[in-house]
Amino acid sequence: MTASSSPKSDPKTLAQGKLILALDVDTVERARELVVMLRDHVGMFKIGSQLFTAAGPGLVREIVTSGSRVFLDLKFHDIPNTVAAAGVAATRFGVSIFNVHASGGSEMMRRTADAVANTAIAESLARPSVIAVTVLTSADASVLSSVGLNCEPDQQVTRLALLAAASGMDGVVASPHEVSRIRAAVGAQTFLVVTPGVRPSDSASDDQRRVMTPAQAMTAGADYLVVGRPILSAANPVETARAIVNDMAEVLC
Ligand code: C5P
Repeated sequence: MTASSSPKSDPKTLAQGKLILALDVDTVERARELVVMLRDHVGMFKIGSQLFTAAGPGLVREIVTSGSRVFLDLKFHDIPNTVAAAGVAATRFGVSIFNVHASGGSEMMRRTADAVANTAIAESLARPSVIAVTVLTSADASVLSSVGLNCEPDQQVTRLALLAAASGMDGVVASPHEVSRIRAAVGAQTFLVVTPGVRPSDSASDDQRRVMTPAQAMTAGADYLVVGRPILSAANPVETARAIVNDMAEVLC
């Protein structure tokens, strides 16, 4: 079999691997149902503070042990020692990605990246990708100003993406509209950009202000797309996930 015909290079398989379902639900039971229903249709499940607080770490282990990949979206932000220790715990869970706030600073990010890499080597574990949140998409210039930052969100995103890259982070979470700016600022092709704010053309945008379709986000240069409500509230979540993967795959063909 040639590389070009191997299943891994099939555009739909590649696209599926890049689709992350946000498991934004309240209960372990609903999360389990969704994992079973969608594990063959998405590449990863994102567990954020809502589900983690309700369900606890047992669910993370359960999903990883069942063979699915997990993005632990707890956006750690604390003193360097504490975030590095949380990163070690996330590594031991076996998550594929976890994140921290870039505004926690260079030492916090560097010590976390180093602690994760050292733990993975010492304990023969897979090293998760550690990515940084730059500016939350809910924050506009007035929110930044209220916390003493007198700059536009775009400028702050670029500044923090550069800091994250220089501090050993594997990538950032960003709006699809910020991908090209980040790619231009951070040259490394391997720097991951993970984008929420993605909506199929026939979906409601909900509270996401500036959305892109899956194909547009892929064209903009995103590595992974995070999608929640369009799949979670669909009459047929599997069909919706398949349609999103097909849209993404068009760009990868
Ligand atoms: O339902 P929806 O597709 O809007 O879900 C997007 C997910 O991405 C949610 O879990 C949300 O918390 C997360 N997210 C976001 N915007 C950011 C960072 C994370 O929407 N800037």
